[in-house]
Amino acid sequence: MLNGEEGYAAQKSMQILVALGESFGAENMVPVSSCHLPGASFKLLGEAGLMFVKEMGAKGGKVRVFTTTNPTSCDCDCSTCDRLAIDGQFIHAQAEVTQAYQNLGVVTCGSCSPYLIGNAPRFGQHAAWGESSAVVYANSVLGARTNREGGPSALAAAITGRTPNYGMHLGKNRAGNLLIHVPEPLHGIEAYGTLGYAVGRISKTAIPVFEGIPTSVSFDELKSLGSALATSGATALFHVVGVTPEAPDREHALNGKKPEMEIYYDKQMRMNAIEHLTLTEKTDDIDWLYIGCPQCSLQEVRYVAELLRGQKVADNVDFWICTSTPIKELAAQMGYVQAIEEAGAILVCQTCPAHAPHESICRTRRYQSLTTDSAKMAHYAAGEVSMPVHYGSTEAVVRAAIAKRWEA
Ligand code: F3S
Repeated sequence: MLNGEEGYAAQKSMQILVALGESFGAENMVPVSSCHLPGASFKLLGEAGLMFVKEMGAKGGKVRVFTTTNPTSCDCDCSTCDRLAIDGQFIHAQAEVTQAYQNLGVVTCGSCSPYLIGNAPRFGQHAAWGESSAVVYANSVLGARTNREGGPSALAAAITGRTPNYGMHLGKNRAGNLLIHVPEPLHGIEAYGTLGYAVGRISKTAIPVFEGIPTSVSFDELKSLGSALATSGATALFHVVGVTPEAPDREHALNGKKPEMEIYYDKQMRMNAIEHLTLTEKTDDIDWLYIGCPQCSLQEVRYVAELLRGQKVADNVDFWICTSTPIKELAAQMGYVQAIEEAGAILVCQTCPAHAPHESICRTRRYQSLTTDSAKMAHYAAGEVSMPVHYGSTEAVVRAAIAKRWEA
């Protein structure tokens, strides 16, 4: 491939992977079984990125393994884009990005939880994924092996079917080194997100091992834990003793070694994390509410639909519930979409505030605050957008949408 015997796209891709591998001291390449591309939104990709993807397709590039895309800049449903005030030029540019990926054979699902809709490498399989929340889920919950890839390296891996063998691909780098005691049972998306956010602030690149989380923890709660952990920290892997595949017990999770640090997750740590997530100007305004970061599973959509059934979202309130298109279709068949829409909320697909042109949306819709059950989304709103944030349980977010008042 490097010599150009398999065409321009494979050669260019292999050049990227060789340079990456050399800079990290990789000794060889490993075959990947799955890829997930983070650079799917025009907002993040820009014109230069779009040109690169188009060129790969024009010069014969095709992905060799199952490959999906992260959220894009708009919903594929035009009426939803109208309601969200997404600019027409953006819609057109995004359609070009999506077409360019489709020309390469990429499944343009526009989801940051592709493991919920069929892109789920098995335990021990190598993959090349971007999107921090998806990467940490693939490594920790599925037990697959992937580094945190950027757009070009993930696409190069998809085109060649290879990735450099370093970092998370090597068993020796997957042992936990930070032990977290979780003394009280937790419940719900916000509780696990707060735990992840609190630990990530300390763990940074360390690999946390959680002890005390019950085996009844749901996939959605683990999704929330991992995404928050990878937001305040930079880890790509965690273990939950007795739950995740590489941690049948503490010994295995720590690879027989002593942890470098032990942390007791107490009330103070929890309160500090919540304070950090909401440390913006306080406001009574409730005008924009968001559930689905990472994008919702069918169970999450069902739960919100049941909370909203027969209720009405207050006037001048936009309540987004984000998921992927296949999950929305199933949710429609089950009547969940109807319950959500009758209540006045909106099920948004293929995008999220981080990938949609949120500046113009906030301006047009005059949003003054964001209310969410997601630690990751609260972090972005408070930190990157400097927006007042209300952060709490899924139930509290739904109550706020109805009452237009925040009570955590
Ligand atoms: Fe997904 Fe967007 Fe959150 S990509 S993880 S919904 S910031």
